Amino acid sequence: MNRRQFLLSASSTAILAALGRQVFAVPMGGHAGHDMAAMPGMAMGAPADPSPVLKRLRLPSGRPLATVPRLVNRGGAGRFVGTLSAAPVTLNLAEGGVKTTAWAYNGQLPGPAIVAREGDSVEIVFTNRLNQPTTIHWHGMPVPADQDGNPHDPVKPGESRTYRFTLPKGSAGSYWYHPHPHGHTAEQVFRGLAGVFVVEADDDPLRHLAEDWLVLSDLRLDERGAIPANTAADWHDGREGQFLLVNGALRPVIALGQGERRRWRVWNATSARILKLALPGLEWQQVGSDGGLLGAPRALDTLMLAPGERAELVVSGSLPAGKSVALQSLPYTRGRAMTPEQTAAFTVATVKFGPPVAGAAVPAQLRQIPALGEPQVRRTLTFSENMADPASMFRINGQTFDMNRIDFTGRVGDIEEWDIVSEAHMDHPFHLHGTQFQVVARNDGSGWVAEPFLAWRDVINVPLREAVRIRFRQDLPGMRMYHCHILEHEDQGMMGQHRVSA
Ligand code: C2O
Ligand code: CU
Ligand code: CU
Repeated sequence: MNRRQFLLSASSTAILAALGRQVFAVPMGGHAGHDMAAMPGMAMGAPADPSPVLKRLRLPSGRPLATVPRLVNRGGAGRFVGTLSAAPVTLNLAEGGVKTTAWAYNGQLPGPAIVAREGDSVEIVFTNRLNQPTTIHWHGMPVPADQDGNPHDPVKPGESRTYRFTLPKGSAGSYWYHPHPHGHTAEQVFRGLAGVFVVEADDDPLRHLAEDWLVLSDLRLDERGAIPANTAADWHDGREGQFLLVNGALRPVIALGQGERRRWRVWNATSARILKLALPGLEWQQVGSDGGLLGAPRALDTLMLAPGERAELVVSGSLPAGKSVALQSLPYTRGRAMTPEQTAAFTVATVKFGPPVAGAAVPAQLRQIPALGEPQVRRTLTFSENMADPASMFRINGQTFDMNRIDFTGRVGDIEEWDIVSEAHMDHPFHLHGTQFQVVARNDGSGWVAEPFLAWRDVINVPLREAVRIRFRQDLPGMRMYHCHILEHEDQGMMGQHRVSA
């Protein structure tokens, strides 16, 4: 047995024993070798499909891209007041009258989009109609710690609570909201609980562009059309489904006028998929990241988007009306141990050309992003995996999450520099609550390389055996979580807390 095979069998046995959750026969022989192409579903380049029976189940595809319905604002100017509830809902996702029970915000997949403005006060009255505790976390947003849906503040079944915060100037960007209860985040998200939150700015230099929003999520259905529990392999590798949905639908058609320029906002709301997106035949530029616009547009070849991460793009092309091109997910190896890697490209959506539309101008400068200065505090976080200890498998600085342990203490206003160093065998996307950070350098093992541009982010993938250096400042006091955004890893404790005091 080589080391990898040893780790594999040790980890699978350990997970099965420790988790006691629903398991399926893990194809140990197949993935330890090189015969990935033989795995079911791989030939078509589709995401891994553990059961051939699933092929009978079809989702409608090729419909026009759905607009994400907006949450109604009952507040008026300067004040967003809305109501959300999390509850089971029965939907017709698959063809042939198959019914699927999902968990959804206000019965919608994805949840209703919240659209507010810089300066607005926000009040969301939330009711939990699930049979387990939940919270709403405002992913990436600068909200007070006690309003941020931390696992410390569960909303019990049948209970309600109101989340209140104000959106500061400069916070315009593409965020999202999702549950964050201790140990149940992955399940609540893969059953459907996630929605987007867009903060607009009065001085947005791209306001004149028409927008398309693409919320990417994973769906797995079993042969009855139900959303199955995680397998042992999912708990290890992070769950992927057999369907990658865009705004809740399979392979939608996105319209683009010939010569038109449109602004796309893209959310990776999957549990574990590290997306490498390509748009061959079109031009695209990245104009924004998690925390809003970049300083200037950047030409894109492929777009990498880790779980939890977002991007704003300007997309254009000049094919004649009627022609179409594919938005593709390209293969990317993220160090999966118990399930096959994606080995072929597949189509996420189709872009279909319509009649000519004059292309709107994109300014060369979008905004000023000041560099965060020299840090007052430096810390190192090391990601590792201990396959032999199922109770503590995914670790940060050798430990798993403990709600009663404060991992770091810091101060409001201090610039912190964190080196996130991977000693792991798979990629782990790092996420920090309460603020946005700047990546200052990356190290793939051959030395630190300065990041060539400034961007505000709250998720950064840390590829296996590599390191990323970030800087940030917390402007509000309180307990802030940081964790791997592969939700199965977060639930298993690949998370820590930074207590920031005034
Ligand atoms: Cu999107 Cu702590 O999470
Ligand atoms: Cu978050
Ligand atoms: Cu992870």
